[in-house]
Amino acid sequence: MNNPKMILVKHTAEFARQAADIFADTLRKKPDCLLGLATGTTPLPLYRELIARYRRGELDFSRARTANLDEYLGLAPNDVQSYSHFMNENLFDHINIKRENILLLNGMAKNAEAECRRYENTIHDWGGVDLQLLGIGQNGHIGFNEPADAFILQTHLIKLAEDTRRANAKLFKALHEVPTQALTLGCGTIFAARKILLLAAGQNKAEILARAFYGTVTPQVPASLLQLHPDVTIIADEQAGEEIRKHLLLEDRAM
Ligand code: F6R
Repeated sequence: MNNPKMILVKHTAEFARQAADIFADTLRKKPDCLLGLATGTTPLPLYRELIARYRRGELDFSRARTANLDEYLGLAPNDVQSYSHFMNENLFDHINIKRENILLLNGMAKNAEAECRRYENTIHDWGGVDLQLLGIGQNGHIGFNEPADAFILQTHLIKLAEDTRRANAKLFKALHEVPTQALTLGCGTIFAARKILLLAAGQNKAEILARAFYGTVTPQVPASLLQLHPDVTIIADEQAGEEIRKHLLLEDRAM
C-alpha cells in the first residue's frame, strides 16, 4: 500500500494555489503533457487560479492536451448542462489551449461503445495521462465510476446512481432533468495516469474521503483503488479533511 500525499488547507485560496502549483509543475516539466480534467464544483477555484496565472503570463497551454473524465449521455456539447460547455466556460475559453488538443466525450454519440473506444485509443495515441485531476462523489465515485461489484477498467457507458443524480441536481432546474446515464473514463484508465491529484472540499466529503484512503480497497468505494497508485496527492479543505486529520493524528502517535 502506498501513502498518498495529504495536503490539508484552511482557505479556498490556498486550496487553489496548491493545486495550481502541481499543474504548473507538470506543464513546466512537460509542456506537451496530457492533463486529465474533471468538472463539478470542487475544481472551480483551481480553474480560476489557472486562468489568473495564464493571464499573468505564468502558464502556457499552447502545447498541452486535455482529456475530460466524463460526459452525460444525451446532452449535446453546446447544451448548457453538458460537461463540454462547463469546460469551455470555466477553463478552455480563457486559456491558450488549441481546440484540436482538447478531448471530450460526445454525449450524443449514436454508438456509445464506439465512442468509448475512440476515447481510449486517442488517450493511448497521445501517450497516456500525465496528471489526472479528480473530485470524489459522496458515494466514493471517481469520474462516473459508481460503486459496483467490480472495477470497470475502460471507458464505458454507465447508469448513474440515484444519489449522484440528486447531488448533481444542484446544477439543473429539476431532478428529472439530470440524465440517467453517462460516459466515463474507466478505473483502469484513471489508474494508468502517471500522477493523480484528488481534490475534496466541504463537510459532505469528510467521511468518504477517510473511507476511500483508510478503508478497504473495494469497487464499492471506487476511489479506494487509488490507495494502490504510486503517486497520489490529495488536497482537502478544512471540512473535507476533518476525518483524515484524525487518522493522521493516530499515525503520528503510533510513531
Ligand atoms: C466530474 C466527476 C465527478 C465529480 C464528483 C464530485 O467530472 O467526474 O466524479 O468529481 O462527483 O463533484 P463535485 O466537485 O461537484 O462535488
